[in-house]
Amino acid sequence: MSELRSIVRGVGGYLPERVMTNDEMSKLVDTSDEWIQQRTGIKQRHIAAEGELTSDLAVAAAKRALEAAELTIDGIDLVIVATTTPDMTFPATAAVVQQKLGMHHGAAFDLQAVCSGFVYAVATADSQLKNGLGKRALVIGAETSSRILDWTDRTTCVLFGDGAGAMVLELGEDGDRGVLASSLRSDGHHWSKLYTDGGPSSTMSIGHIRMEGKEVFKHAVGNITDVVRDVFDKTGTTVDDLDWFIPHQANKRIIDGAGVKLGIPPEKVVLTVDHHANTSAASVPLALSVAAEDGRIKKGDLVMLEAMGGGFTWGASLIRW
Ligand code: COA
Repeated sequence: MSELRSIVRGVGGYLPERVMTNDEMSKLVDTSDEWIQQRTGIKQRHIAAEGELTSDLAVAAAKRALEAAELTIDGIDLVIVATTTPDMTFPATAAVVQQKLGMHHGAAFDLQAVCSGFVYAVATADSQLKNGLGKRALVIGAETSSRILDWTDRTTCVLFGDGAGAMVLELGEDGDRGVLASSLRSDGHHWSKLYTDGGPSSTMSIGHIRMEGKEVFKHAVGNITDVVRDVFDKTGTTVDDLDWFIPHQANKRIIDGAGVKLGIPPEKVVLTVDHHANTSAASVPLALSVAAEDGRIKKGDLVMLEAMGGGFTWGASLIRW
């Protein structure tokens, strides 16, 4: 049955040129390639160049998504940038992206849900389009997490990388294509398990990432599976209908754990954590862009996105591609 939905017109990703391997990391802190790979599945990460800002990464990914959608910025009504590492405290990085893309019309704002930011942004754009705010949205996840890492803390600095991914959503009717349902959750009682020890209002500085890794790990699999099941229930679909599972790329062990609990075969899981590390809000759209560009995700496929991050926040979104 045809229904007005937010349909994916195109996706695109961008990774900074500089690659940092685990061996390089082991020259900075007491760690090893073996430890990092065994505990996280990460082999390398990309690091933004000096002077390369979150907005630059976002713009590069946005241009690729627009190209894939065969659109120019003139066709976009709404820009949402999900990020925890904005260029400045204000204005929103989305406004800077708007300027860099030469866009004078429409609306632009940032969304802060840490690693769940892109999934939150997809759900937000979907509801805004359905509410008549515009016809097309450019949804971006972009991060320069390297700028908020404590490079002397081996328990966090090995986990993150920089990058950006973008998606163009367009309101239309095309069979059952589009965003079918989303499920968003948060529980702020857990904020102190994953946070920055600074901010404009508290310290007048940006702070660095602090994390109780084991605690985050403990909650991750359960939270992820809850929202994924909720989205299956809302849409009357099951894991057997799924073509692709696009998890937040924080840790291969978390992804494997969620896959096993949900009964998703490994060949349906898109993995980029090995090459990208955890790029926070950029991880899901980057994984999507990799799998769309290499031809794995095809028109008509059923694709589940999920993420979990600081707050805690977590969410899932089911899309008929
Ligand atoms: N290299 C080498 N050793 C390290 C290390 C590193 N980079 N980081 C920690 N260690 C050490 C610890 O100090 C500890 O040593 P000890 O036993 O002498 O005290 C040992 O390794 C085990 O640490 P532990 O924290 O128990 O490891 P773990 O198996 O829980 O793995 C994480 C650590 C961070 C990989 C894991 O907890 C994790 O992935 N958590 C979720 C993190 C996440 O996804 N965050 C983002 C969510 S959006």
